[in-house]
Amino acid sequence: MKKKTKLLVVDDEDIVRESLDDWLSSVGYDVLTATCGEEALQIIKRKKVKIMIADLIMPGMNGIELMKEARTIVPTMSTVIITAHGTIQTAIAAIREGAYDYIEKPFCPEKVELLVRNLVEHHNLVEENITLRRKIEDRFSFEGIIAKSPKMMKIFELIKTVAPTGATVLITGESGTGKEVIARAIHSQSQRRNKPFIVTSCAALPETLLESELFGYEKGSFTGAVERRKGKFEAADKGTLFLDEIGEIDANTQVHLLRALEAKKITRIGSNEEMEVDVRIIVATNRDLRAMIDQGTFREDLYYRLNVVTISLPPLRNRREDILPMAEHFLKKYAKENNSSVRGFSPEVVQFMLDYHWRGNVRELENMVERGVILAKDKTITLAEFPQELTGPALTEARTLEALERNHILSVLEETGGNIARTAKILGIHRMTLYNKLKKYGINVNTLGA
Ligand SMILES: Nc1ncnc2c1ncn2[C@@H]1O[C@H](COP(=O)(O)OP(=O)(O)OP(=O)(O)O)[C@@H](O)[C@H]1O
Ligand SMILES: [Mg+2]
Repeated sequence: MKKKTKLLVVDDEDIVRESLDDWLSSVGYDVLTATCGEEALQIIKRKKVKIMIADLIMPGMNGIELMKEARTIVPTMSTVIITAHGTIQTAIAAIREGAYDYIEKPFCPEKVELLVRNLVEHHNLVEENITLRRKIEDRFSFEGIIAKSPKMMKIFELIKTVAPTGATVLITGESGTGKEVIARAIHSQSQRRNKPFIVTSCAALPETLLESELFGYEKGSFTGAVERRKGKFEAADKGTLFLDEIGEIDANTQVHLLRALEAKKITRIGSNEEMEVDVRIIVATNRDLRAMIDQGTFREDLYYRLNVVTISLPPLRNRREDILPMAEHFLKKYAKENNSSVRGFSPEVVQFMLDYHWRGNVRELENMVERGVILAKDKTITLAEFPQELTGPALTEARTLEALERNHILSVLEETGGNIARTAKILGIHRMTLYNKLKKYGINVNTLGA
């Protein structure tokens, strides 16, 4: 028989602690309990517990503090935080600090059970490191977006908050980070979900064409305008208009766009009649719009109109937790598409994917997995199926001690949100030493993250 998984429940409220104990024991876990953080730490030291459910607010140490302490004893500790209803902010803070998830009080036992089951599986996955499980994506997917990192969880929360409001959203991020999938998610989480979602790339068209594309034109308004045509604004009426690569839009169209946003009215080219439109605007760019404002190539007033809410998508290399669930998702997708019997990755491939720099982000990962599926000679994708120029030097580079040290410092910095004191403490070195290393490796704490 399989050994029961140990869980530690920490809550000062008897009723919560006892009911969790009863329920989780009844479904087959080995449940330990503690009434406060100090007691919990004693148990963790003696019993090798790796999974903990802890109340956020307790006398003495709170749940987040306990989680951090516990991790100094068991670094792979996975924690779920219990919060009172309505304190979503603290819950998000807990996740940012590395909690696996949170449970809102009052909770239903089935939900807790499901969460714990997922957590146990997740935990085994982390422990085994390379054993990818089937269906993992179901648990980490939101509107078809696969993610698991605290950073992306924060973004999911933001999407849920902002989607129903109709506010204009600016999505920034490197190429291939998923800007368009996020835009679609916002649309389908909004009341406009059954209305059109229209995509226009501002980079694909020369300027005069972009303008007529957006606003439409009357017959005869310019050479070639043989028919009257509706623009994207009209097409998106009551729905969402996604303007991709907004940084490429020319000065003239910027003026017209600004006017359309302010007045919620548009004028077709060659017409003097204004038309009311009800369109939600989402824009995306991989350029630095602020820098463009400084250079005088992007209007500041338009920028503020567009930038009501900003979602900054972090590059894949700054959210490595997302790599394996995504790789698994793409593997299944392309195996199915190609009628292939490929089922997994070799350990070297897993390590490579975790270490690689992913300049092309999710798109690059997706392409590589697709290629792997197609080239694989067996049920497993091996390094041989990856472009050699990437796996060769990149791997040796990542294996020098200095590269490892640099990566490790980066990942701890990430965990602490760039906090030098805490990072130094976790690394067990003096702050000055850390500063020197940052300098040596060219790490700029202010530009970490998204
Ligand atoms: N979190 C995710 N889960 C699953 N698939 C994703 C995710 N993020 C991106 N993708 C996939 O990666 C590819 C690139 O995503 P998308 O087109 O949204 O990126 P982008 O930021 O708009 O890129 P670009 O800057 O090049 O326009 C798409 O095929 C998309 O479906
Ligand atoms: Mg795009």
